[in-house]
Amino acid sequence: MLIASLKPRTMGGTTNSGLLLYALNRAGYDVAGYDADESLQLHAWARDVDDFPCEVIAADTPAFAEEHYPAMDHSRINVVDTGHAENHSAIVDSVLEVADLVIVTISPTKPDYNRLTKPERGTPISKMIRRSASLRDTGEPPVTLALLNRCNASSNKPKKYAEWLANGGEHGTLPRWDVLSTRIPLHTAVGNAVGARCDQRDQRAPFDALLTELRHRGLLPAPPEVRP
Ligand SMILES: Nc1ncnc2c1ncn2[C@@H]1O[C@H](COP(=O)(O)OP(=O)(O)OP(=O)(O)O)[C@@H](O)[C@H]1O
Ligand SMILES: [Mg+2]
Repeated sequence: MLIASLKPRTMGGTTNSGLLLYALNRAGYDVAGYDADESLQLHAWARDVDDFPCEVIAADTPAFAEEHYPAMDHSRINVVDTGHAENHSAIVDSVLEVADLVIVTISPTKPDYNRLTKPERGTPISKMIRRSASLRDTGEPPVTLALLNRCNASSNKPKKYAEWLANGGEHGTLPRWDVLSTRIPLHTAVGNAVGARCDQRDQRAPFDALLTELRHRGLLPAPPEVRP
């Protein structure tokens, strides 16, 4: 399967992609990474760190669906990290054409919420996801979840933005998102993850919880050790 990590602009997307790959691999899945962001930070993280769980292929091309997807091993869980959807819509469109599951990272702040829901320039991600249906084999958009990252435990903002995302904003007029109940905390260890060794205790729990929620929602195959 192919999981795509999306965001409108800098939100913690690469952090989430790398630590999700690490959690999946610890849970027994075969994994592979693709970096569809021109900054290639996920690719560099995998190249430079000896306990990164897999190779990450540089795949920052608007021909992602044609050049990378067909050769992918679909028995693995492949995770593709994308760049700013606002500025690199052609690459993101190509990823959306083939992704099985989309996780949109969003930080619970006003500017980041605005960039997700009603950017001053560019196409809102929700619209990019909807329009991808016309290019997909299923004719439907991919299953899409919103993941709140950089959540301050002592703030009411994560709860407020989770509710706005789920309910179409303050006035119920915006697209509604399926918001994961798992939230990635604002935490120094997580903030320092990109480019660093993966085996750091404080980073593990939220991504293990994310895996558990994805499994409970029936969105991941059974891991190898419990397959019949
Ligand atoms: N959970 C977290 N807690 C604290 N800081 C975080 C967390 N997640 C990410 N950060 C910080 O947020 C910034 C952006 O993270 P990251 O590089 O993962 O985002 P991105 O969406 O991939 O950005 P880019 O636009 O560069 O692709 C980094 O400075 C990182 O340290
Ligand atoms: Mg990034």
